[in-house]
Amino acid sequence: MKTMATPKSASSFVPSTATMRAIAVLPGQPGTAHLRQVPRPQLNEIPNGRGVLVRVLRVGVDGTDKEINAAEYGQAPPGDDYLIIGHEGFGRVEAVGPEVTELAVGDYVVATVRRPGTSLYDIIGTNDMTTDETYFERGINLRHGYLAEYYVEDVEFVVKVPSGLREIGVLLEPLTVVEKGIAQAYEIQRRLRVWHPRRAAVMGAGTIGLLAAMALRLRGLDVTVFGLRQKPYRNAELLEAIGARYISTKDTPIPEAAKEFGPWDIMFEATGNSFVVFESMQVLGKNGVLVLSSVTGGDNRIEIPADRINLQFVLGNKVMVGTVNANREYFETGVKDMAQCEAQFAGWMERLLTHPVKGIENVEELFRTLTTARDAIKVYCDIAPV
Ligand code: BGC
Ligand code: ZN
Repeated sequence: MKTMATPKSASSFVPSTATMRAIAVLPGQPGTAHLRQVPRPQLNEIPNGRGVLVRVLRVGVDGTDKEINAAEYGQAPPGDDYLIIGHEGFGRVEAVGPEVTELAVGDYVVATVRRPGTSLYDIIGTNDMTTDETYFERGINLRHGYLAEYYVEDVEFVVKVPSGLREIGVLLEPLTVVEKGIAQAYEIQRRLRVWHPRRAAVMGAGTIGLLAAMALRLRGLDVTVFGLRQKPYRNAELLEAIGARYISTKDTPIPEAAKEFGPWDIMFEATGNSFVVFESMQVLGKNGVLVLSSVTGGDNRIEIPADRINLQFVLGNKVMVGTVNANREYFETGVKDMAQCEAQFAGWMERLLTHPVKGIENVEELFRTLTTARDAIKVYCDIAPV
């Protein structure tokens, strides 16, 4: 009988206060990241008994958070003048609504970032492909994020992470951006009837570049990763540990490396620098696919050999595709890749968790680490023990 209206919750859990701590910014004003007391979300805010109350354990921060705190990006939800940031959340289920069968108290979870708008793509569950002008993203645009002690969400947007992956669960959201890009590339390449990609290039050796290299190695590709820094370099060592090749463009320019290690069947661009896109276009193999994932908010201009790039694309039947965000499907693929990565390269993903900042109250330290730590791969806020 489904008559119980009260949530199933951990027996010892009695909320002592109706507020909680969160990290927020005042959108439009640079450098305003601060700790504040905000109302604690309640399970019954989610309709149809489908709510999940999550205790937040860890939240990763990235370039998007930097831009939000620099007031280059991000809007507060309607009715509030602040935005709780954080979109790379990892937590544990504290309570579920009476109609939730997919998750139970104690499960480890990650919630997706974007919420549906009104376009056809939103309606069919692929809100990452929205054609709406306005998009809703938790911790980024018009919806509060996860850098708080708790959040509530509809179970539709909450993905279970097996407890064996709890140490690296905070890396799931960035991994999903990679998963979507790669899945889109494979989907596009069905145009070829037969596609056996053998060689991949990843532009950029930051968090996304490292995760892209890993996902491509798991798919059996020969992977070359380009970065600016010269060896010795921790990220190069990490790449070599999974059988990928690291090349500093200071040692070997991209066209020269392409002669030795290309032509590339698939390329994943994640440098954050739009110039690299046009360099990448010139070394993509015939029938190849180039995936673009850098969010470049500036207004940089360059001169390019337009005729030559166009000609090579036309004569080589090449494709270039942009990718942003990730829907639930890619979170589920991400969990599987994490598990395979642990089986194949045990402990590797944990090595990406370089810069924990303990305690949600340490806002200043969190942003200082994010903006100044030169060796950081993943900076994250350690809110509660995993
Ligand atoms: C997030 C994506 C989001 C994108 C654009 C990225 O940092 O990981 O989920 O769609 O920013 O706002
Ligand atoms: Zn992000």
